[in-house]
Order: sequence, then structure tokens, then C-alpha cells
Amino acid sequence: MKLTILGGGGFRVPLVYGALLGDRAEGRVTRVVLHDLDAERLSAVTRVLAEQAAGIPDAPRVTATTDLDEALTGADFVFSAIRVGGLEGRAHDERVALAEGVLGQETVGAGGIAYGLRTVPVAVDIARRVARLAPDAWVINFTNPAGLVTEAMSRHLGDRVIGICDSPVGLGRRIARVLGADPREAWIDYVGLNHLGWVRGLRVAGRDELPRLLADRDLLGSFEEGKLFGVDWLRSLGAIPNEYLHYYYFNREAVRAYQAAEKTRGAFLKDQQARFYEEMRRPDAHALQAWDRTRAEREATYMAENRETAGAGERDTDDLSGGYEKVALALMRAIARDERTTLILNVRNRATLSVLDTEAVIEVPCLVDANGAHPVAVAPLPDHATGLVCAVKAVEREVLAAAESGSRTTAVKAFALHPLIDSVNVARRLVEGYTAVHPGLEYLK
Ligand code: G6P
Ligand code: MN
Repeated sequence: MKLTILGGGGFRVPLVYGALLGDRAEGRVTRVVLHDLDAERLSAVTRVLAEQAAGIPDAPRVTATTDLDEALTGADFVFSAIRVGGLEGRAHDERVALAEGVLGQETVGAGGIAYGLRTVPVAVDIARRVARLAPDAWVINFTNPAGLVTEAMSRHLGDRVIGICDSPVGLGRRIARVLGADPREAWIDYVGLNHLGWVRGLRVAGRDELPRLLADRDLLGSFEEGKLFGVDWLRSLGAIPNEYLHYYYFNREAVRAYQAAEKTRGAFLKDQQARFYEEMRRPDAHALQAWDRTRAEREATYMAENRETAGAGERDTDDLSGGYEKVALALMRAIARDERTTLILNVRNRATLSVLDTEAVIEVPCLVDANGAHPVAVAPLPDHATGLVCAVKAVEREVLAAAESGSRTTAVKAFALHPLIDSVNVARRLVEGYTAVHPGLEYLK
């Protein structure tokens, strides 16, 4: 089985390869093709993978190429994990927004819109090529903003593209643990958009255990989301929001804390990862050691950099190491071997949320088998959540329209309609600011 990884020179690729090395079962991936635009990054990551595979006789064979069509041809699975504009682009996304007094974050608010506008045209080009060169392949989209990018690709690939995120499963696991339940036994009633969803229930043996958590102040205050959102607010909501909803519910505090921070998350990661790729220029460098050291530094700063406002604790490392790559591998196995499982994924709505149309990509528990991911029926969202979901989906649709038409006016509309952008004039200046710094936005006329 051939797996192609787009963004193959990316820093997280060794996590994926590590997960593949742990898969001993029949029908596993035997060939990995890494694709990246940057040959130097490709060679750095290839060296890390070679050291990971040392001593494992049947490790998946790894090749690397900068030719996209060659990488895609004959692929059974494609992991799309690109970052258009690199971490420098992410740092610009953050900075331009913060200078306007609005949230500058990778996937939420102004930063997420800028990132989406840059990424959608590239993702659409990839989707078209996959449809032509590997029409039977399944595309697993890691690329952020994952919901929006998955929807853009689904217009060309239908249900053969599935978006993933590690945050819902991490949240479900934390809730299960704090309730003393086995996360593998729990059914998580979660729905929304990517980075914009709520856990409304957690059923163990047919019983909803979430009311027990909401009723117990000590228990509720003891875990990450309890600290992040505060016990009283969680009780008011009657649900546990995805951690990214902190940017909505505590927007002012988040913006101020980000403005006060010495470096944005993107700028921090850019410098940190540059050191890794720099070190890999030395032919005698220990690739795996260098990568592992950088990864440990990144994990140590995770919560401190990201959520300083709430004084939340450490992100438990299990959520990082059990993150994206585990979800991706579980999804790939379920499809490739018809091993039925349930995963929270980004797929087309069909009739799941009646307030959205059938083509809207949402994040929801899905039954997965050889025929793909099928969203399960869920209870409707409460009105306040429906309001946010519809507003943000409307913004995503404007981003998709702007990417398709190249219209600057439509791009302004996307920013202006976002609930976290409080003036049309701010939206206009954001478009000016972003087009000035991003070569990937030159298409906006
Ligand atoms: C979580 C989200 C991802 C996001 C990442 C950012 O894992 O689910 O979508 O990309 O955090 O992490 P970073 O270390 O790059 O700030
Ligand atoms: Mn995510």
C-alpha cells in the first residue's frame, strides 16, 4: 500500500512515520512517498525517518520527491499536511491581526481567514490532481484550517476527502478520565465545525455521565477545560466546548495576552524549527536526536504559549503524542481493512445538522468502514451554538468564493462577517495588511 504525504518535509512527519512503524498488521503501508516544495526540508526529514527505521527489517520504504504529480500517481492514501507560506506566513497571520486589535491565531478569526485564503487555491489544485492521477485514493486532510480546506477539496473529491483534528478526541479523553471512565468505552456526543464544537454528553454503558461532571464543582475545576473556561461558565453552557472556543468566549483576554506576549506562537515555532533544519545541514548531525529535542521543547511550551490567559495547566503529553497521527492511522486502517470504528471527523453534513446544507463540512462522530466515513445522527445544537456555527460557516463560504473568483471585495466580506472582527473598516485594513505581506494572496484583485 502506497501512502503519499504532502508537506513531507514538515516537522510532524516523523510522528506519522513512527505510528506506521508500530503497525504490524496485514495490509499495512509498505511505501511512503514524501512530497514537499523544499528539497532541503525533505532531505532533513528523510534522514530522521531513516534513523527511526534502523533495525526494523520491514519498515515502510521511504522515497522523496518535489514533483507533485509523481508523488500522487498510484497513491492509495494521501495525507495532505501542507502549510502554505510556512511558519513565517503563520507569524504574519498572527501579527497583522493583533496590530488591528483582533485575534491573530492560526485557525480562528482573522488569522484563520488569512490562512484559509492562502491555502484554499493550493488545496483545490491538489484535489484536482488527485482526481486525475489517483481517482481511487482516499485523501486525509490535516491541513488547517481543516474544516474549510476539507470543504474546498470535497468540491472536487466528494466524500473521498476526510478532514481530521486531534482536539475532539483529546477533549473526549480528558472528560472520560476525569469521570473515571475508560475513554475507549465512552461515546462522545460532539458536534460543530472544526475547532468550533461542543461535547454535550458522554455515554458509558448507555448512561450519560456528563451531568455528573457538571454537577461536581471540584471535578469540573480539576481538568484542563474546567480551568480554561471556568466552572461557572461550563455550567451555564451545560456542555464542554472545544478549547478553541476560548477565543470566542474570552476574546478580549486572549487578544490582550497575545499582544503582550514577546513572540506569537508562529514566530516562536518558526525560530525553533529553523534551528532544527539548520542543524540538519551538518552531514554528521544525529537527525533523530535533533528532531526529538526540538519536539520536546515544543511540547514543553505548548500550554504556556497558547493559553496563558486562563492559567491552564500543562497539556497532557498523551494528547500530543496520541494526536493527529493516531487519528489518521486509525482512519486509514478502518478504510483499508474494513475495520469498523467510530471517529470524530470532518465530513460533508448530509442531513446531520438541519441548519446547514448537505455540502457543508462539519465535525461529527462518524462510523468508518471500507466505504468511508458516515456521520451519525446527533441531537441539534442549542441556539447559541447554532448561531456561531452558521456565522462561521457563512464566513468560510465567502473565503471559498474569494479563492475561486479572486475578488478582493469578497475577501473583505469574509473578514467583515466574522463574529470576532468588529468593524468593516478593520476588515478592509486586514485585507490591505495581509495582501502586503503574503505573496500567496497576490491573486486577490
Ligand atoms: C492542535 C490543533 C491543530 C493545530 C495545533 C497547533 O493540535 O488541533 O489543528 O495545528 O494544535 O499546534 P502548534 O504546536 O503548531 O501551535
Ligand atoms: Mn486541529
